[in-house]
Amino acid sequence: MPHGDTGWSPFRVPLVPVPRGPGACSLGPIIVHEDLDRVLFSESEIRAGIDRVAAQVTALYRGSDFTVVSVLKGSCIFCADLIRRIPIPLQLAFVAASSYGHGTTSGRLEVNYLPTGGEIEGRRLLLVDDILDSGQTMHRLKQELLERGARDVHTCVFLDKPARRAIEFEADFCVLHVPDLFVVGYGLDYAGMYRNLPIVGVLKPEIYARGAKAAAPEGTTPSP
Ligand code: IMP
Ligand code: MG
Repeated sequence: MPHGDTGWSPFRVPLVPVPRGPGACSLGPIIVHEDLDRVLFSESEIRAGIDRVAAQVTALYRGSDFTVVSVLKGSCIFCADLIRRIPIPLQLAFVAASSYGHGTTSGRLEVNYLPTGGEIEGRRLLLVDDILDSGQTMHRLKQELLERGARDVHTCVFLDKPARRAIEFEADFCVLHVPDLFVVGYGLDYAGMYRNLPIVGVLKPEIYARGAKAAAPEGTTPSP
């Protein structure tokens, strides 16, 4: 089995019919993984939200140089789609942050890779992450970038889960709001998996229970 005892394999079972308009998707029928309990956001909803945020970002930065800083790994899918809808010049950089927690809660944050000084100093930065949960990751990364000389730092998240906020922090741009649920897909993982699902969904309760029982080592559930 390719992934230990999880039996994971993408795109196996067509479970949930996802509404779609003309040209919404070129990949054929929507197929979602059998581990999903339900779909929260379809591809067309995600696309519409990203188009809206891309227009807002474009309006903010039109006429000025800026760099999009993607927080690895979770924001890679969102960021790739977002920047292709921003029709003005930009640069791209990456930062890696790991939230070492257990199961579906985030814990201690470790920043293990930052852009070089030249990529930060005097630059306008748009920090992009997959989800704003407790708020610790975005708060800490924004501070780090400002301390290293960024001219200004705006923040953009794919999802916002306001019910879980542990500190006062709001993103400047947000695509979609989610209730207090642990979600996967479109870059978001559980135990490192499900990032490649094209939709956002909630796993079946038994999948989370299985993960907890496996007593994963620190940092593996969820991963950055
Ligand atoms: P923070 O609690 O706002 O610092 O978020 C820390 C990190 O936890 C996020 O960047 C995500 O990688 C992860 N995370 C938080 N909530 C979820 C979720 O519902 N699904 C998957 N990952 C999550
Ligand atoms: Mg993340």
